[in-house]
Amino acid sequence: MSANRRPLISGNWKMNHNHLEAIQTVQKLAYAIEKDDYEAVDVSVHPPFTDLRSVQTVLQADQIPISLGAQNAHEAERGAFTGEVSAPMLAKLNVAYVIVGHSERRELFGESDADVNVKARAVLAAGMTPIVCVGETLDGRSTGHAEARITEQLTGSLAGLKADAVGDLVIAYEPIWAIGTGETATPVDAQQMCAHVRARIDAMFGAAAAASVRIQYGGSVKPGNAPELMAQPDIDGALVGGASLDANEFARIVKYRLYQV
Ligand code: PGA
Repeated sequence: MSANRRPLISGNWKMNHNHLEAIQTVQKLAYAIEKDDYEAVDVSVHPPFTDLRSVQTVLQADQIPISLGAQNAHEAERGAFTGEVSAPMLAKLNVAYVIVGHSERRELFGESDADVNVKARAVLAAGMTPIVCVGETLDGRSTGHAEARITEQLTGSLAGLKADAVGDLVIAYEPIWAIGTGETATPVDAQQMCAHVRARIDAMFGAAAAASVRIQYGGSVKPGNAPELMAQPDIDGALVGGASLDANEFARIVKYRLYQV
């Protein structure tokens, strides 16, 4: 990890924790994560929409320096879109980071790179930071198409964005075969793919954007593998699913630098 890119450890709770469980989890995190940790690492939690207001209130009242995140947003500001939530609504709740194009959204809800692109633009327009997810399937990996797939997703998802906006965003590289499976890319493989992401950003948006964009690795990140993953030069953070639901486990990932050799 480069000295000028602050690491970002994000907990994607997916469709877990009601608002009462969310409050408890954040209160436990407040005990487990210490001042030294926040000095070294940015931390975000991404609860379901129904929990956001409760979590925001706890973070504010207790002055906990964890950033609030969301898992998705609709691209329109408002309108007749039953069941959807807009980026300005999230910004009003002090949401700082919004995950767009998570592989579950792409696979289960049919989101395309063009959908991810308009969502990323909406999040930026509302003053928040998108966490843009990319990742190949097992099939893509075994047939040797992983890098081409990532290139295609980056090209479509980031089309037309300004270079300085790209420099400020977060890209999560999440090999789909490693999500929720207990399988993790080896640190060497994860580094190679994150370096590929950075090289593509350089080719598309220039060296300054490539040097400052933060790239997270996601896919079965646990306290045991986080130190080695985070030691890789092109990995600037982690997008954590299952292991972020338990406050103590997530806090141990946030403290990865205490375990680095
Ligand atoms: P996982 O999920 O850590 O449970 O593999 C990661 C993600 O989907 O963001």
